[in-house]
Amino acid sequence: MNNTDPQIVKMQLKINFNQMKYLLLFVSIFFFLNTTAQKFDQLAQTPPMGWNSWNKFGCDVSEELIMGIADAMASSGMADAGYEYIVIDDCWQVGRDENGEIVVDKDRFPHGMKYLADYIHSKGLKFGIYSCAGTQTCQKRPGGRGYEFQDARAYARWEVDYLKYDWCFTTTQNAQASYELMRDALYKAGRPIVFSLCEWGQSKPWEWAKDVGHLWRTTGDIVDRWDAMMAIFDAQKELAKYAGPGHWNDPDMLEVGNGGMTAEEYRTHFSLWCMLAAPLMAGNDLRDMDSETLEILTNSEMIAVNQDILGKQAFCLRDNGDYEIWVKKLAGEEKAVCLLNRGDETKTVEVNIPVLLKANDYYWASDPYEIQDYTMRDLWVHENIKPQGNTMKVEIPPHSVKVYRFFKNKHSTNR
Ligand code: GAL
Repeated sequence: MNNTDPQIVKMQLKINFNQMKYLLLFVSIFFFLNTTAQKFDQLAQTPPMGWNSWNKFGCDVSEELIMGIADAMASSGMADAGYEYIVIDDCWQVGRDENGEIVVDKDRFPHGMKYLADYIHSKGLKFGIYSCAGTQTCQKRPGGRGYEFQDARAYARWEVDYLKYDWCFTTTQNAQASYELMRDALYKAGRPIVFSLCEWGQSKPWEWAKDVGHLWRTTGDIVDRWDAMMAIFDAQKELAKYAGPGHWNDPDMLEVGNGGMTAEEYRTHFSLWCMLAAPLMAGNDLRDMDSETLEILTNSEMIAVNQDILGKQAFCLRDNGDYEIWVKKLAGEEKAVCLLNRGDETKTVEVNIPVLLKANDYYWASDPYEIQDYTMRDLWVHENIKPQGNTMKVEIPPHSVKVYRFFKNKHSTNR
């Protein structure tokens, strides 16, 4: 057939025109979705690490405090350990001006937020702030409702890097729609900001917030007590599958160093949060930490488990009442294992090492890993373990943990 025949050329043009129409439609939908409904990707690829004012200072926040915390974070070893965000929680705001702009408490923050951001950035750290999806914050300061785009522009101007967005005074608001609106406002303002949802798990954000924020609270507030901390830990058990790079379950900020638990209990609290791939937001006074607190918060081997690039949250392998075994898969076919004694008596347990190494959360499957290809290490004692045979007796004091990591030997392959 001669395809220069005018009839055929006409038909081809028509087909091409029809195809073009669909292509154009597809391209515009793609751009529309991309510009109107997106969170900043690439942020929080590992759980965010930082400090937040609420647990220790409540409403007693000021420029002087925040600058002191920034100094301490930079000089204490916390920044070197990976902590970077300094987040001012509730109470920095006092009203709105005649143009609707949010007004900062001038008595407590005399130089305003941009000045503070510059100071924090000059220390190589990042700056976070707090607001609320409702008409007021939980401490009855002005909320974001109705001012989302204006506030997002102010945060971008101040060079904010992290926003925690609370859920008080929201009456009949829909959570997903409210948080999507703020996500869009942040995106429109153009500055990449980690978006931390704080609606306490009420509308199951793990089911819808993956594309909305970078982390979402799963429960109400933590309290600096063993049983309260453990209750929050228990609530994370079914949520492991929802966590991953860029989208984390948030069991609330750390209480390590605030005085309501023993050092052993704080070690457990920190270990469990590391196993959960939880955000590590310190909540104590960094300006005067004792060495035990600093040692817990900067245990680099535990932090490496938390920050592992695979981004897996630990699963519970055994629940024998007061004794539990938790396993976190790590990149490079490695694993971390946490033996937890929740009870009030010391427990002596016998662990089967190959069972721990092969543990898999998918039904009864087990990973084809061989013990001779791995080195087992105690992440609190900081020593390698050379077990005699396949089993090992371990003594676990009350309210404490043993955490091990299986490091893959360089030369070995499992295949
Ligand atoms: C709560 C929130 C706390 C803290 C507090 C401030 O709703 O869960 O983490 O931000 O508000 O008022």
